[in-house]
Amino acid sequence: GPTLEDLDPVRFIGNRSSGRMGFAIAAEASRRGAQVTIVAGPTTVEPPRVAELVKVRSAAEMHQAVIARADRSDVVVMAAAVADYTPAERAPHKVHKEDDTLTLVLKRTPDILGELGRRRLASGRGPLLVGFGAETEHVEEQGAAKRQRKQVDLIVANDVARSDAGFDVETNAVTIVGEGGSETLPLLPKSQVAAEILDRVEKLLVQNAARAEANR
Ligand code: CTP
Repeated sequence: GPTLEDLDPVRFIGNRSSGRMGFAIAAEASRRGAQVTIVAGPTTVEPPRVAELVKVRSAAEMHQAVIARADRSDVVVMAAAVADYTPAERAPHKVHKEDDTLTLVLKRTPDILGELGRRRLASGRGPLLVGFGAETEHVEEQGAAKRQRKQVDLIVANDVARSDAGFDVETNAVTIVGEGGSETLPLLPKSQVAAEILDRVEKLLVQNAARAEANR
């Protein structure tokens, strides 16, 4: 789901993510027998029952919760719409109106998925990584570039220009970009998109296990 970045005690910057896609993946993984931890922002839908549920609010809190658990995970799927920027300062009291315009100063948040990719590259080990990308054009190319940039195994690129896919709807139209190229799936319920993603994750886990065995 989203993260909310507080400006003062009564205001925040957020986004339209509902949590549906992440929860669908968590539910399907749990159904397949995985021990699932959900790290969720303030979602508008209820999470499925899984082994562990960690509720967070901001990108900084999500960063801390995910990094703390990554080393003991086999797979990390970052379906959250993490804020890219947060207010440089949080006002301790409600900000009152003054001038006709107001300028907010924002600073970058930690890139959680990017950090996991860098750490894995540096150490040579770490969980299998799946990221999402919200795109409005050149979905395939942008997804492939994001996969390279973040050093992850799979990028699930959403076409958010469509009203029946992406944020806050029950269906999604995605292109899954992996090492061998990309596959564009038709418009599907998010539960089915979750199954398609996890089919590919399972294949990669089997491949990686075989590679590790061969190198022993
Ligand atoms: N992500 C993250 N930490 C952030 C921001 C994003 O882990 N601070 C993750 C998201 O959960 C998602 C992927 O990174 O899996 C999205 O990558 P990003 O480069 O932020 O893509 P977009 O949000 O699509 O934005 P941009 O327009 O910057 O490419």
